[in-house]
Amino acid sequence: MLTLTGATLAYGQADPVLSEVTLTVEPGRLLAVTGPSGAGKTTLLSALAGLLAPRSGTVTIDGAALHDRDRAVAHGIVLIPQDNGLAPILTAQENLQVVLIARGHTPAEARRDTAIALDKLGLSGQADQLVEELSGGQQQRTAIARGLALGGNVLLADEVTSELDAGNRQRVIELLQGEAKRGAAVVLATHDPEAAAACDAEVHLSDGRATFKGR
Ligand SMILES: Nc1ncnc2c1ncn2[C@@H]1O[C@H](COP(=O)(O)OP(=O)(O)OP(=O)(O)O)[C@@H](O)[C@H]1O
Ligand SMILES: [Mg+2]
Repeated sequence: MLTLTGATLAYGQADPVLSEVTLTVEPGRLLAVTGPSGAGKTTLLSALAGLLAPRSGTVTIDGAALHDRDRAVAHGIVLIPQDNGLAPILTAQENLQVVLIARGHTPAEARRDTAIALDKLGLSGQADQLVEELSGGQQQRTAIARGLALGGNVLLADEVTSELDAGNRQRVIELLQGEAKRGAAVVLATHDPEAAAACDAEVHLSDGRATFKGR
């Protein structure tokens, strides 16, 4: 269970982006994080990913302080970043394989799981293409494939449908729902009301506060 308790999130000495946020990211659930541009969606996901320590309050995983990104990785917290985070001069499949090998897969296991994940996103035909030669939406889907291939306990997906056509957006939402169904805690930061409506619950960020919206 990944929990923020009374967490105030801020950069350096600047005024807080979010104040006193308390929320739990539950296994088996798909949570939408909504709010206007600059409201703090990425900031909230950064805290949940162990990339940003709260100025006050706590971030805990199964009751223990999260501390940092290394600890988060060890707990299986996977982030699909808003800017996709892919290496542009590697191919789509190499981008997946390097992270899988870094997590302890053998090269053969990494090749197998990469092929499965790229196929789920409709990218089997792009496996050998350099990321810098892929379209924006293909890059976004490669980043999602990489996140799915890691099979995390917590999946933090930051605006992962922003560049997708309607068919691919639906496919990605169904894949995220599938991740929740297999028991992962899934968080989707999104501007898109239709994507938010497909989630089990919604937390809306506005004016530095988080408000839960019923379903
Ligand atoms: N690394 C950083 N250093 C300083 N300020 C930052 C940093 N990252 C974000 N901010 C500030 O924090 C606030 C929230 O930004 P954040 O990226 O979390 O918003 P967002 O809701 O994800 O927006 P968008 O919908 O545009 O992705 C903004 O005012 C932004 O300028
Ligand atoms: Mg953002």
